[in-house]
Amino acid sequence: MSRPKESSTTDQPMNHLDDWEESLRTRYPDSTNGKPNEAFRDYRAEARPSVKEFYRLNHRHQTLDFVLEKKREYLPLRKRQMGIWEAMEFLNTLVDDSDPDTDLSQIEHLLQAAEAIRRDGHPRWFILTGLIHDLGKILCLFGEPQWAVVGDTFPVGCAFSDKVVFPEFFADNPDSGVARYQSACGIYSTGCGLERIHLSWGHDEYLYHVATPYLPEPALYMIRYHSFYAAHTERAYDHLMNSHDREMFRWVRAFNPYDLYSKAAARPSVAVLRPFYEELIAEFFPPVLEW
Ligand SMILES: [Fe+2]
Repeated sequence: MSRPKESSTTDQPMNHLDDWEESLRTRYPDSTNGKPNEAFRDYRAEARPSVKEFYRLNHRHQTLDFVLEKKREYLPLRKRQMGIWEAMEFLNTLVDDSDPDTDLSQIEHLLQAAEAIRRDGHPRWFILTGLIHDLGKILCLFGEPQWAVVGDTFPVGCAFSDKVVFPEFFADNPDSGVARYQSACGIYSTGCGLERIHLSWGHDEYLYHVATPYLPEPALYMIRYHSFYAAHTERAYDHLMNSHDREMFRWVRAFNPYDLYSKAAARPSVAVLRPFYEELIAEFFPPVLEW
């Protein structure tokens, strides 16, 4: 069967959108899984050329102006109206060169994360957050290139941290030549709080705005900052956070293992799980929401 290809231009270096998450698991191996921390490998040397090229584009193009433009374009949330399950099915139409017989669909990935959270006895809003946290990837279906949908996020409008993966690629970012953006705080101020910071544009920020009216604050932090590895894992950008951010980042860190390590080979049964999740979705979300 001929399947449409997600990656067809030089703007889309990765064959598969999930290659980025695969690269995160290489960078941050699961130390709770019998793998000692010494097993941490030289990610930069091992990163696939396609992933490296993806980061080169991401770091080159994510400028403050670009982020502001995407916020103006998307955050009025006037692209579509649909329910959560419908959005999951929409995301599932994002097909690529993966093997449909062995690779899990996007819905199956989301269900795996949610089921891992459910197994560990976390609250219902936490399970729901696992289910929906990547729905912002529908940005791809609105025509956004990979580098504007996935990838580690980082603040723009202030100095780029060398704790962001492949920091050398920021040399090609036009903002590197703007002195006002290159002090430690840039256009922000010490301890101003992440709410005031513009992060690089992607699926996290977009879904945060879609979900804001409906979920408790820890869930919204998890959604908005789950790709902000420089902060939640490398502890960079602390000077921009306030005490409330630091408190809430405990939740972001609690969520991260489910994001990275819940992707088992076993295929969850969508038909069996759907009633439980439809009920959970209805507990928090209206039947239709603005995207
Ligand atoms: Fe994600």
